[in-house]
Amino acid sequence: NNRQAKFYKLTKKGERQLRDETEQWERMTLAVQKILETEPAIRDEEPLADPGEIRGSVDCRNLSFAYTAGSEPVLHGIDFQVTAGQTVALVGRTGAGKSTLLSLIPRMIDPPPGTLHVDGTDVRRLPLARLRSAIGMVPQETFLFSASIRENIALGAPEATDAEVLEAARLAGLETDLAQFPNGLDTLVGERGLTLSGGQKQRVALARALLRRPRLLLLDDCLSAVDTQTEEHILHNLRTVFQGRTVFLVSHRISTVKDADVILVLDHGRIIERGTHGQLLAIGGAYADLHQRQLLEEELAAV
Ligand SMILES: Nc1ncnc2c1ncn2[C@@H]1O[C@H](COP(=O)(O)OP(=O)(O)OP(=O)(O)O)[C@@H](O)[C@H]1O
Ligand SMILES: [Mg+2]
Repeated sequence: NNRQAKFYKLTKKGERQLRDETEQWERMTLAVQKILETEPAIRDEEPLADPGEIRGSVDCRNLSFAYTAGSEPVLHGIDFQVTAGQTVALVGRTGAGKSTLLSLIPRMIDPPPGTLHVDGTDVRRLPLARLRSAIGMVPQETFLFSASIRENIALGAPEATDAEVLEAARLAGLETDLAQFPNGLDTLVGERGLTLSGGQKQRVALARALLRRPRLLLLDDCLSAVDTQTEEHILHNLRTVFQGRTVFLVSHRISTVKDADVILVLDHGRIIERGTHGQLLAIGGAYADLHQRQLLEEELAAV
């Protein structure tokens, strides 16, 4: 009869949900296993230094790096010093080594001993958990989970309040997007929910890094899919965030990097120019050329 049919339907629905969720768990477990298996063996190696609270100076001395022993290095003799609180920009054509240089700082890949120091200590001697908890990195390829916006932003900061999550989202320029999403922070994204645009995904990843209030913020071309106007708005927001933090900013856009304390121009794994925006324009080299090209492009786009 009717009630039995209803009951049957409900049971079936419950079964289906359970099965879906079980499948999702299995997929997740498999994915995690895969990551664990392929993750290079970077771990704490004695003797470790006790750094105290990490302040965020970065000192790179004659760093050369090759992905595999015996292969051609992709970074050659990189030398620079950054005091805590400075903003460093990295520019240079594709394949120049910008992402590689950034990934050495949190030891996603290991720098050769004695070449890369945070607060004066070789990163290889810093406790990995301490080092990484002081760093917020937005990688070039963003990764979102099939979960709510809130969960995606609060990844790595599960104790964050809604107000904190919303503030991070606001700083990352997600405010107007959130207002348009059906359930605000609870909106599901990914496989089972809303498909976000490339620029929206990048801003979720940025909000995730900002929420953790890291001493070092590494932004790898993390607004490349965002239009120039929105990017300017976000960079304006970030001005206060950048204060008192060490920031590494990779970008192909001059407009993004022009206010940095120092701009490093990389080419084929070498620093070929360094200085402020004004200094680099005065040199009239690769940076000035890039600037000129982008001005032309802007003018053409405005026509
Ligand atoms: N996992 C890897 N294994 C081996 N070689 C790599 C790996 N990742 C990058 N490379 C090589 O290292 C060099 C520098 O790459 P990298 O990604 O650092 O450049 P990039 O400046 O970030 O470029 P883009 O502007 O395109 O992001 C390139 O020649 C690249 O092919
Ligand atoms: Mg890159």
